[in-house]
Amino acid sequence: MRSSLAVVLAAGEGKRMKSNLPKVMHPIGGLSMIGHVLKALQTAKVDRIAVVVGPGDDKVAKAVAAHARTATMHVQAERRGTADAVRAARDALLAKRADDVLVVFGDTPFVSAAAISSLREKLATGASVVVGGMRPDNPHGYGRLIMQGDQLTAIREERDASAAERKIGFVNGGLMGLAGETALSILDAIENKNDQKEFYLTDAAEIAHRRGLKVAAIEFPADDVIGINDRAQLAAAEQVFQERRRTEAMAAGATLIASETVFFAHDTTLGQDVVIEPNVVFGPGVTVADNVTIRAFSHIEGASISPGAIIGPFARLRPGAKIGENAHIGNFVEIKAADVEEGAKINHLAYIGDARVGAKSNIGAGAITCNYSGVSKYKTDIGRNAFIGSNSALVAPVRIGDGAYVASGSVITEDVPSDALAFGRARQVNKLGRAADKRKKE
Ligand code: UD1
Ligand code: MG
Repeated sequence: MRSSLAVVLAAGEGKRMKSNLPKVMHPIGGLSMIGHVLKALQTAKVDRIAVVVGPGDDKVAKAVAAHARTATMHVQAERRGTADAVRAARDALLAKRADDVLVVFGDTPFVSAAAISSLREKLATGASVVVGGMRPDNPHGYGRLIMQGDQLTAIREERDASAAERKIGFVNGGLMGLAGETALSILDAIENKNDQKEFYLTDAAEIAHRRGLKVAAIEFPADDVIGINDRAQLAAAEQVFQERRRTEAMAAGATLIASETVFFAHDTTLGQDVVIEPNVVFGPGVTVADNVTIRAFSHIEGASISPGAIIGPFARLRPGAKIGENAHIGNFVEIKAADVEEGAKINHLAYIGDARVGAKSNIGAGAITCNYSGVSKYKTDIGRNAFIGSNSALVAPVRIGDGAYVASGSVITEDVPSDALAFGRARQVNKLGRAADKRKKE
């Protein structure tokens, strides 16, 4: 078994993103680009991961620690090009010689485990350098791969390329494998003699070729290696991602009535016979069980939904919402950090936050939990088979017992015992004839 080290290049803000956020932190399907890349490397089972970040890229370092605990971090002091960035990870290269050194760009989010494996296979058959290429519809901005038969002789960056070279449609997908034996000596030979005065990793191809070493290119589907340098490319990548997830969801047995209007996160999981109506958005952390219906215009994140539940239309489930079997969450209902147990119904215009709603309880229209004192959050505990009348305000912390009934329009500040009927409102007074008197006077 050959050993492997992946060097992930993630330094710099990405000038063309025009953002305060480091480029590789921009999300696709709710996961940062670097998160996608690290996931693929883990699936590909590379032995070690070294990530190159810019000075003060704390956000990137944090994301790396969250997604790949054992990855080492290396700082590139100044953004001097992709070869300089790989050299910044010299410690990782020297620490233990890997048979396969894989250089992956943090702005190439869809790089797949399969692509990593095919680079490694090429190295195993004697290539010193192997580049992942593609033929995109529009090659503009990518380095062109100059081939001589099977041998890659050079990679020319767009701005350094001649008119003839620019016509080449086969381009660098930003994925490279280097044989560990020669990697450092090739990297160290790279100079900055180009239009940008940067040290280009791509020059590794020409240097290896001149040394008489085997340099190969593998073509991958363009969608697997799209690089993201600006917001338009970010949007295009999001579209690719969403199309893939929709296709997967339908293949796994979900009905998407207007699939092009449903947006998934990287980790959305759906059961079978889930029906999703048009215009539904999933944020990260959502699990949907079998036979759930999500009706139109719902927004769901950090929630788990049990079998048979019906959500929406126009429902909002926020992080920590746990919806029990066959529960109903209706229009203009917001649920946050709440356990809505089996068969409970919250059908209209309600806010339930930091709460439990016991099995088979009914929450009336306009009822809310007042969970926030302005300083702290408090819990509302509603038992089983309880009935909360319309427009009630449950001021937390408060408990409503099993089978209790809260009259409409109540403001409940004290616990309600099981099976009790609570009134928390002024008694109604009817003044007979007073309305007619008032009209006469006016
Ligand atoms: C690069 C390639 C180009 C290829 C394209 C594929 C080079 C010289 N060019 O161009 O051939 O077609 O990717 O998407 O390699 N980075 C650093 N430190 C640096 C410079 C870059 O860490 O000093 C990182 C960036 O964060 C980014 C990646 O390396 O994730 C690639 O850099 P970028 O500036 O996006 O290169 P491209 O112009 O896209
Ligand atoms: Mg790029």
